Amino acid sequence: MNVVLVTGASSGFGEAICRKLIADGYKVIGTARREDKLKSLATELGDDFLPFQLDVTRKDAVDNLLLGLPDAFKQIDILINNAGLALGMEPAYQANYADWETMVQTNVIGLMHLTRVVLPTMVERNFGYIINLGSTAGNYAYRGGNVYGASKAFVKQFSANLRTDLFGKKIRVTNIEPGLCGGTEFSNVRFHGDDHQADAVYQNVDFITPEDIANTVSWLVNSPVHFNVNSIEIMPTAQAPAGLAVSKDMK
Ligand SMILES: NC(=O)c1ccc[n+]([C@@H]2O[C@H](COP(=O)([O-])OP(=O)(O)OC[C@H]3O[C@@H](n4cnc5c(N)ncnc54)[C@H](OP(=O)(O)O)[C@@H]3O)[C@@H](O)[C@H]2O)c1
Repeated sequence: MNVVLVTGASSGFGEAICRKLIADGYKVIGTARREDKLKSLATELGDDFLPFQLDVTRKDAVDNLLLGLPDAFKQIDILINNAGLALGMEPAYQANYADWETMVQTNVIGLMHLTRVVLPTMVERNFGYIINLGSTAGNYAYRGGNVYGASKAFVKQFSANLRTDLFGKKIRVTNIEPGLCGGTEFSNVRFHGDDHQADAVYQNVDFITPEDIANTVSWLVNSPVHFNVNSIEIMPTAQAPAGLAVSKDMK
């Protein structure tokens, strides 16, 4: 039975991906910082789900990850680098610098930590799959997207470069690039717990759900090994790149 490691399993996409992949028959390690959330997911999902507390920004903890796993979960076949966050939507000249650092530490460095630890074990077996959670924010600029979008552009290019380094090996890499998705904690985190501001993002929009993303992941991991989706950009029908803006009467 294949083993999957999902980062950011305590809510949103990660939680839905764990549910779906357990239903598909995988053994799943769900990681995040909030252990209580992982434990309640474990109660629901049973023995094939291993809750594992891990802060992806802590290199020492990630370096020791494999040592801390029980034998049945040690050989990771699929790594889903999903943990990530946006903080703030102020323009770059007003943004909180600490928020910028946290986004880079989590979305960029955390993803690098996990990849560097797990990938060599895949190369040793010439088998594996890495799925990264990028974003349309890595493809299209938007106001207030500054460092968040740049961190996802890193994920996009890193995924492409992994494919290149893995040329000739049976190891797959996909960057999933979602647009507006509701039903997660993403906007509550972005707006520092301001539920009113977070709710407004999703008002009157038929958004993508975490289950849509989980179904996409399920399709990818269950596709044959000779088949690699390099990247997949997913938006709600209600969202589209709607053209460049022109500022009139600029002073
Ligand atoms: N929702 C969207 O509209 C959207 C669109 C495009 C891309 N994405 C991307 O999709 C991914 C999942 O987002 P989501 O919408 O599911 O958001 P979410 O509900 O806020 O989930 C984020 C997950 O990341 C974990 N996390 C954050 N910092 C972490 C750290 N330092 N170490 C370990 N885990 C950490 C959180 O767990 P703990 O707090 O328990 O650690 C949580 O489980 C992110 O990479 C996000 O950038 C989201």
